[in-house]
Amino acid sequence: MQQSPIIILGIESSCDDTSAAIIKDGKILANIIANQSVHEAYGGVVPELASRAHQQNIIPVVDQAIKEAGITKEEITAIAFTNGPGLLGSLLVGSSFSKAFALAMNIPLIEVNHMHGHILAHFIKEKDGAKNQPNFPFLCLTVSGGHTQIVKITNYFKMKVLGETIDDAAGEAFDKVAKMLSLPYPGGPVLDKKAQLGNPNKYQFTHPKVPGLNYSFSGLKTSVLYFLKKELKQNENFIVENINDICASVQKTIVDILMIELKKAIKETDIKEIAIAGGVSANSELRKRLASFSAAYNVYIPKFEYCTDNAAMIAITGYYKYLNQDFTTQDIAPSARMKV
Ligand code: KG4
Ligand code: ZN
Repeated sequence: MQQSPIIILGIESSCDDTSAAIIKDGKILANIIANQSVHEAYGGVVPELASRAHQQNIIPVVDQAIKEAGITKEEITAIAFTNGPGLLGSLLVGSSFSKAFALAMNIPLIEVNHMHGHILAHFIKEKDGAKNQPNFPFLCLTVSGGHTQIVKITNYFKMKVLGETIDDAAGEAFDKVAKMLSLPYPGGPVLDKKAQLGNPNKYQFTHPKVPGLNYSFSGLKTSVLYFLKKELKQNENFIVENINDICASVQKTIVDILMIELKKAIKETDIKEIAIAGGVSANSELRKRLASFSAAYNVYIPKFEYCTDNAAMIAITGYYKYLNQDFTTQDIAPSARMKV
């Protein structure tokens, strides 16, 4: 007898992207993401506006995902949703929708840690079955707007944080410097684009001194601020005239800092399977540096669409939790802070 397929509907609403995805037996069928342009005018995510936009987007996004996947809602085996970390009001929209959907369809409800999702994004199989998955154990540099961690992953569920930022996340550093340079929100990708046209060795910024495998980015932010103030005193057009070189130099510094600790972690653990995850893994310089890292390592870089926030990563994590029969109940409440 043929076993019926396991079809997971994944829901992601932790920050400012509303996303729904359908995964069938580990293969992606649809991954719909609605970005929220409403925040552009404010230069950053406004939590209250994010929740309202999620509320407007969630049904159309789910509807579109189901249509694109070519399934009916009755075929969905279970629903998985991001339960944290993230903005509480945003999380509430996704979790409330998921609870209602599970109740209405009488299917299991699966909670997913957003950072766990970023890591397991590496296990999403393409429609044609293509995959490029790290072997256990592997190290994952998890770099997003809220996190910067080096994680050792022993299996789909066992993960240990070996080092993390003691202050700002790498994505936050990109975004804050972009804001100082008056670049539009979201800053990271815009800074990346300009950096590709500039000289990364034009300006030097200091590296932090942090014990262990930990990171710090608040010092870099301050040193860029003082550097800009000094230069602007001498030339009020300094930023405009040198924007590409400033971006390239800051980007190089952030990537250098990320790579130094990652190399240390590889040496200490002797693990040769290396992955990156999270929004900053979309960064061109980081991808380039990792790709040319060393023939002695196997490096796994996710597809662009699985780097920044998406529901496919939540659905794949839900799929593995489903196989483990790891379900949650209607009394679950989202949590703004949550460890991987
Ligand atoms: O994972 P993500 O989409 O959301 C969080 O969970 O935080 O990551 C968003 C972060 C933002 O800080 C954004 O600026 C950064 O990822 N980011 C980038 C790039 N694309 C996204 N940073 C540098 N270069 C990029 N190309
Ligand atoms: Zn994220």
